[in-house]
Amino acid sequence: MDPFKAYEKGDWKMHQRTKQGLSLLHLAVIKDQPFLVEALLQKGAKNQGDQWGMTPSHLTKLLNRSNALTEPKEKSLLIFRNRDEKIYKIPISEFEEKLKITYTDTLIFDSIKTIHQIAKKCARKMKKELLRQMNAWTLALYKKELDQPREHLFYVKWINRYLGYGVFAAQDIPGLTYIGEYTGIVTRRNNRKDRFNDYVFSYDLCGKATRWSIDAREKGNFTRFLNHSDRPNLASRWLVREGITHIILFSNQRIPQGSQLTYCYGPWYWRSRSRPTSL
Ligand SMILES: C[S@@+](CC[C@H](N)C(=O)[O-])C[C@H]1O[C@@H](n2cnc3c(N)ncnc32)[C@H](O)[C@@H]1O
Repeated sequence: MDPFKAYEKGDWKMHQRTKQGLSLLHLAVIKDQPFLVEALLQKGAKNQGDQWGMTPSHLTKLLNRSNALTEPKEKSLLIFRNRDEKIYKIPISEFEEKLKITYTDTLIFDSIKTIHQIAKKCARKMKKELLRQMNAWTLALYKKELDQPREHLFYVKWINRYLGYGVFAAQDIPGLTYIGEYTGIVTRRNNRKDRFNDYVFSYDLCGKATRWSIDAREKGNFTRFLNHSDRPNLASRWLVREGITHIILFSNQRIPQGSQLTYCYGPWYWRSRSRPTSL
């Protein structure tokens, strides 16, 4: 039965759920029907979680939709202009245009099916006491910072033709500071294609490899500009939040202002590429 048709006939209530726990508002987001989202909100539909705790507004971000639940993009970013050696604050839209990427602060999934497959796996992992505790510690450590803007901490700078861009500390950053999430499009891992894509990060669930990876080539945030070092000052960690695993980056030492933020890509990355410069 189509819940929308049933709703029109009066056989479905506004806050009734499908077997998967989805409300009409969730379904309107999944079907990518912005007018329907707006109409449902006007009729009092609530932004409540599904069986994985995922709200329609969260799904709007994860599925890269644009509707009445979309948050306005008014963020800015610090960039270093080599011309006058100064740091400027520019709107994200300008950054996107200059670097030909779409800036996203959240993971983007190709379908609701993938989201639910991952949410199911995460829920299973969270039944394990040790993993649940590890997750709770990470959440407790970064509870406040996870939702706070991080853009004041760093600037993006063009280094040279060989290295391209890099990310640098805009201020002294203490050890264990949350820097940001590695975002991009979650896609099926494709070892052959991924070898030629510089922006692929493995999407591990609670430290275990999966069939998915995060591709930040076309859509991503500043983390896609982090360069590699064998002695990095950033480390990554998995975190399950709102039912989904996220890969977050934090400083593993104090990082003085002006230093480049680096991350170790691991030996696999460099197997098919020329040796990295020592940073
Ligand atoms: C994820 S991107 C990092 C951002 C990149 N610099 C840019 O401007 O888009 C990874 C690519 O940056 C370059 N890179 C990063 N770290 C490097 C290093 N230590 N030595 C040489 N090249 C590096 C390589 O071309 C690598 O494939």
